[in-house]
Amino acid sequence: MRAIAILLAAGRGERMGAIEPKAFLQLRGITLLERAVRTVEESPGIDGFLVAAPADAEDRVRELVRSPKLVGVLAGGETRQESVRRALAAVPEGFDVVVCHDVARPLARPVLFAEVMRPLREGWSDGAVPVVPIVDSVKRLPEPGRMTSVPRDDLYVAQTPQAFRLGILRAAHEWIAENGISASDDAEALERSEGSLAEPVPGDPSNIKITRPEDLEVAEALLGADD
Ligand code: CTP
Ligand code: MG
Repeated sequence: MRAIAILLAAGRGERMGAIEPKAFLQLRGITLLERAVRTVEESPGIDGFLVAAPADAEDRVRELVRSPKLVGVLAGGETRQESVRRALAAVPEGFDVVVCHDVARPLARPVLFAEVMRPLREGWSDGAVPVVPIVDSVKRLPEPGRMTSVPRDDLYVAQTPQAFRLGILRAAHEWIAENGISASDDAEALERSEGSLAEPVPGDPSNIKITRPEDLEVAEALLGADD
């Protein structure tokens, strides 16, 4: 098995309200992009990686990312889904597994990369996704004044990294793009294309996504002394 990681860094970070894409924001002096690069470098099962860069920031990404595992930097698309599709098209020959990871999750650990790749290495699944049970009460608000409660016992949130057989994820993304279907993550791309289903594996509650400014403070608090 040869695995390539796709680091998704092409978002604009609008909910952060910052002037820069999230990939270039720093957490304890290190950009989120460099943290993701460090994690894939420290992941023994990852043989190379691609970066989907924000529009017009490919050179800036190349300057920040100096790694022997770097396979390429490409321009992302308008949506995350389009960024993944472009990156999948750029994967060179010789890889059979792809691990998609959001640079917006700077606390993902190499062990989580190993855990999502395990079902593929052991041959019992074509995809694996880290999930964490929802702990809060969940409400549906279809319109003002009509809040209803959703039973949460079988509800989980999905994280990245997510691992897939390369051919299967490629086919799924091509199919949903051709059929005008949008998917918020790669597990959904697989599901919507009615191919195989990804396997859930235990996620890491501290693997938070940086979405709003306060998330950076939470992440800072979760960092270990050596991070
Ligand atoms: N992403 C991407 N290409 C896009 C949109 C998102 O590669 N066109 C990446 C982001 O860089 C991020 C991950 O997908 O690592 C998850 O997206 P999200 O948290 O929504 O990040 P942004 O799109 O940057 O943030 P916002 O939605 O607030 O603008
Ligand atoms: Mg977004």
